[in-house]
Amino acid sequence: MEFEFWDNCWQRESQPFHLAEAHTFLVTYVQQYFSKDEKILVPLSGKSLDLVFLSEQGYYPIGIEFNPKAVNRFIQENQLEFASKSFSAPKDHQLVCYHNDTMEVWLADFFEVTQDHIGSFKQVYDRAAFIALPESMRQPYARHLNSLLAENATILLVTMDYQPDEMSGPPFLVTSNEIKQQFPEGKVEELCRCSLLDSHPRWKELELSRLDEVLYKITF
Ligand SMILES: C[S@@+](CC[C@H](N)C(=O)[O-])C[C@H]1O[C@@H](n2cnc3c(N)ncnc32)[C@H](O)[C@@H]1O
Repeated sequence: MEFEFWDNCWQRESQPFHLAEAHTFLVTYVQQYFSKDEKILVPLSGKSLDLVFLSEQGYYPIGIEFNPKAVNRFIQENQLEFASKSFSAPKDHQLVCYHNDTMEVWLADFFEVTQDHIGSFKQVYDRAAFIALPESMRQPYARHLNSLLAENATILLVTMDYQPDEMSGPPFLVTSNEIKQQFPEGKVEELCRCSLLDSHPRWKELELSRLDEVLYKITF
């Protein structure tokens, strides 16, 4: 999934993955598993309202998104005011950090952001990030995410579960076994599961026999 694929997606008026409100799993579980004393990494954040929800609740989310259209829309649609600072990265790339007292949004390729830029994280919220990537990119993603983790970290990871012969993705099918393989040092627990079949016409059109959204907690 290269930049162009996502850029085509962001050229459209609406994106199928974007939710009009904070994700119900996040709203339900954030207090139980995340502390307000620690920042929360939100990789591949799009223009997700999860960032707004977290900051309004007193958490400090740090989103990373490489598409300028997504970041600009996020800022405009939520009428946010940010200061910005830039960092250089390999291949003459620029990383831009938009920041205020309640959150940061990095306009950057996730794979180019290191601990030197953002520090390390005890809390990660991954919704439609890991499962947005094809199999060949999931191991590099998991490795890179691992490199940004502090000790005793917790990842809340949202996946989709469906019959592999009924849909090809994205969102890609990621099983609990794969999560265990990709995060071998983590303890993986399924926290919650709910069916999405009635949630969007897109899923009905595909005539899927099963489509569950699943929340995992990975602790280190
Ligand atoms: C399926 S969307 C999910 C967005 C968001 N997490 C949400 O829940 O709405 C995946 C996002 O990842 C972004 N993305 C893909 N690869 C990326 C990368 N290497 N670095 C940063 N962002 C990336 C895409 O532009 C897209 O906005």
